[in-house]
Amino acid sequence: MPESITITDNRSGESFEIPIYNGGISSTEWRKAVPGVFFHDPSFMATAVAESAVTYLDGEAGILRYRGYPIEQLAEKSTYLEVAYLLIHGELPTQQQYEDWSHEITYHTFIHENVRKRFLEGFHYDAHPMGMLVSAMAALSTFYLDAKEIHDPESRQKQIVRLIAKMPTLAAACHRFSMGMPFVYPDNSLGFTANFLSMMWKIAEPRYDANPALARALDILFILHADHEQNCGTLAMRTVGSAHADPYSAAAAAAAALYGPRHGGANEQVIRMLTEIGSIDNVPDFIKSVKEGHGRLQGFGHRVYKNYDPRAQIIKQAADDVFAITGKNPLLDIALKLEEVALHDEYFVSRKLYPNVDFYSGLIYQAMGFPIEMFTVLFAIPRMAGWLAHWVELLDQDQKIYRPRQLYVGADERAYVPLGDRR
Ligand code: CMC
Repeated sequence: MPESITITDNRSGESFEIPIYNGGISSTEWRKAVPGVFFHDPSFMATAVAESAVTYLDGEAGILRYRGYPIEQLAEKSTYLEVAYLLIHGELPTQQQYEDWSHEITYHTFIHENVRKRFLEGFHYDAHPMGMLVSAMAALSTFYLDAKEIHDPESRQKQIVRLIAKMPTLAAACHRFSMGMPFVYPDNSLGFTANFLSMMWKIAEPRYDANPALARALDILFILHADHEQNCGTLAMRTVGSAHADPYSAAAAAAAALYGPRHGGANEQVIRMLTEIGSIDNVPDFIKSVKEGHGRLQGFGHRVYKNYDPRAQIIKQAADDVFAITGKNPLLDIALKLEEVALHDEYFVSRKLYPNVDFYSGLIYQAMGFPIEMFTVLFAIPRMAGWLAHWVELLDQDQKIYRPRQLYVGADERAYVPLGDRR
């Protein structure tokens, strides 16, 4: 006998027993018991939108696992490409599978010349690279008409490889355009992250070899950002995917959600906030103003984590390795002071607000030379693996189209008033 909840409908006096499956109540059972009564849960505070086997997250305990593997072990021992394979296929690859996968991704890094020349170069000179990326991702759907064959496993696999492989190329192209610099073609002799750094920074040298420690640090950041279960962007991917749109259009929707400052855009806001604070002496006043309701402490708080975000811990360690090469980011001291003050302040303690993934990542990106506008783009590159893993899972589960209900609170029926009679 499964665990259950008994509810009584006080309108009729009838009681119903509703079984609990995997910690949730099936809406089918609920609907049978009380048809026409919907959950009012506008921001999904108490709604599990899917059964998912991709990522496990325990926000109270600060645990994050991809397909059962702790994030700490993956960050220490794995690579982004291996993690992407794991997320999408459910298992770590064998040596042969890893080689085939890396080879495929490496040889799909080029983008159609028209995407760059006609599409990207049509943007205004000061376009935000994240806005460009979102649009370019959607535009890709017009280049791969086979992407509509979402139920054909071969086509699906092809789009997955293309999307993961082309993200760094698109991202770097957006950056180069916004700097007025010529586009750098992918160098398929380089690894995933080193190739991205080459497309970002190469100037006149025949080959750009990134500092291996910096390439590794970025790869770790890519691992940490690869998935985070049912977040706002992933929900967008699943929603659009549930309408059976092609994966480029669905991923563009996910990236658009990520762009928001409450989501992936927070890493950009953290640097702006730290720069505005300017000195550790100003930290107490800044904290006071946040508590008085003047803005938020960017990079703090999370809908699910009510403990230290485990990704923030790992990033804090990785920051030391990066700063050893690049020199310390001068904003680090302000960030450390902010964290110290906030973690001892009743306002933040009582609301369980801790640093999240975005609190320290921006400091690393900035020390590595990335402009602030590129930070959310850097988040989007690896998140593609997670979006696609959820998209595949959704299609395999054959879920119905996402279509929530509403509680109508508008006007009752009323008669149309001709324009001339309105006051
Ligand atoms: N600074 C100050 N107060 C905060 C903050 C913050 N960063 N975050 C939440 N609070 C307060 C909030 O004012 C509210 O207080 P009260 O109960 O007195 O009204 C309480 O904490 C609960 O906040 P909430 O807005 O109901 O929480 P939420 O789960 O809806 O929001 C969040 C989560 C991440 C949007 C929010 O914490 C936030 O805006 N943080 C800053 C932006 C940020 O760092 N975002 C990155 C999230 S991690 C990366 C990602 O997933 O993309």
